[in-house]
Amino acid sequence: MQNHILYTELIATRGSRVSFIFTALDDWMKGSNMTAMRVLIEARPFARFGAGHMERLRDCGFELIDMRGSGVEEPAFMEALKQVDLVLSGNDLVVDGNLLDAAPNIRAVCKLGVGLDMIDINAATARGVLVFHTPGANDQAVADHTFALILSLARQIVRFHTGVLSGLWEHTTVLGMEIAQKTFGIVGLGSIGRNVALRAKGFGCSVVASDPYWPEAFANEHKIERVELDQLLRVSDIVSLHCPFVPSSYKLIGERELSLMKPTAILVNTARGELVDETALCRFLKEGRIAGAALDVLENEPPKGSPILSAPNVILSPHTAAFTLESMDKMSKGCVDQIIEYAEGGLPRHAVNREAFQPYGTGLAGVCMESACNAN
Ligand SMILES: NC(=O)c1ccc[n+]([C@@H]2O[C@H](COP(=O)([O-])OP(=O)(O)OC[C@H]3O[C@@H](n4cnc5c(N)ncnc54)[C@H](O)[C@@H]3O)[C@@H](O)[C@H]2O)c1
Repeated sequence: MQNHILYTELIATRGSRVSFIFTALDDWMKGSNMTAMRVLIEARPFARFGAGHMERLRDCGFELIDMRGSGVEEPAFMEALKQVDLVLSGNDLVVDGNLLDAAPNIRAVCKLGVGLDMIDINAATARGVLVFHTPGANDQAVADHTFALILSLARQIVRFHTGVLSGLWEHTTVLGMEIAQKTFGIVGLGSIGRNVALRAKGFGCSVVASDPYWPEAFANEHKIERVELDQLLRVSDIVSLHCPFVPSSYKLIGERELSLMKPTAILVNTARGELVDETALCRFLKEGRIAGAALDVLENEPPKGSPILSAPNVILSPHTAAFTLESMDKMSKGCVDQIIEYAEGGLPRHAVNREAFQPYGTGLAGVCMESACNAN
């Protein structure tokens, strides 16, 4: 099978934008290989870790427009959008009606990762654009990171580390908090929340959780008590957020909710920054009305000039909970598997708006069936 793989490499970092190496974009725009499915890759971490994902797409005959790290501010990105059938997006691209309208041929969006808060699903459905993502690929990574933050905060590891480096030896003056026997509250008992629950059980905690879609069998098996959010906040020593950000969960944890927490409790957020009212959180921390906060996600990332940077008893990480080698590999593989499923005319296994599905398979001379490719 003849592949016309067009390769546009963009190397960009968050701070310094553009360093393009255009190799074939001009040819591509003039219309070579018009039959293959064109995939614009925006998701910065896609196929950076783990081997073979980009190659697998290429071997199946997709036209890849590699714009990892680019975005709507770049004219070349907007130009490429006009031509593509599918966008593989990450957490930096807002996929709303405006973006979809700028991509008249788009048939599907593949989101690297689980969070869909950057994608307007209704706008996609209204335009017949199928959306699929990779749930479950990063649940172990995020659950591990959640516990890394909790233990670091409970045992003041960052303070000790910087203290020792600067010549301090706070050998007997700072007390930590034990995790065993504590009540661990999980908001959102989904894929990540359940893995956090298993770890909390391993630490000897009692686990309570709130979730409108209660996983009965899992909760019964692991003796997790179902409570409403207010009750969870009142009884928990550790409150850990694992629900999605949607309009109704904006500032789910605000002034009122923080005031329900014990002054000895800590708040952990590895879900989305928008779930927490950061201004209220800073005030509660400064006034000692909760004991600490461990945050992987913030409302503004990075948090330039935010009061959270100087709040006491806070541990921060730069939205990195999902970044393990294993999880990045699984996420990239999940995208490739489903893009191929879709190109072969099937419904990707993690499609979120099935009503927008129309089998893609017709007229794609340039895209192989992977099974057939493998047979060659
Ligand atoms: N920090 C990171 O790098 C990172 C990585 C992956 C995911 N996330 C975030 O974690 C979230 C959870 O991921 P997941 O894979 O467990 O998703 P999931 O869909 O498996 O689970 C989410 C759970 O939250 C529940 N829920 C929804 N609204 C709720 C509410 N108001 N209160 C309580 N529960 C509610 C859902 O019913 C579901 O069971 C994602 O939406 C994403 O925003 C962050």
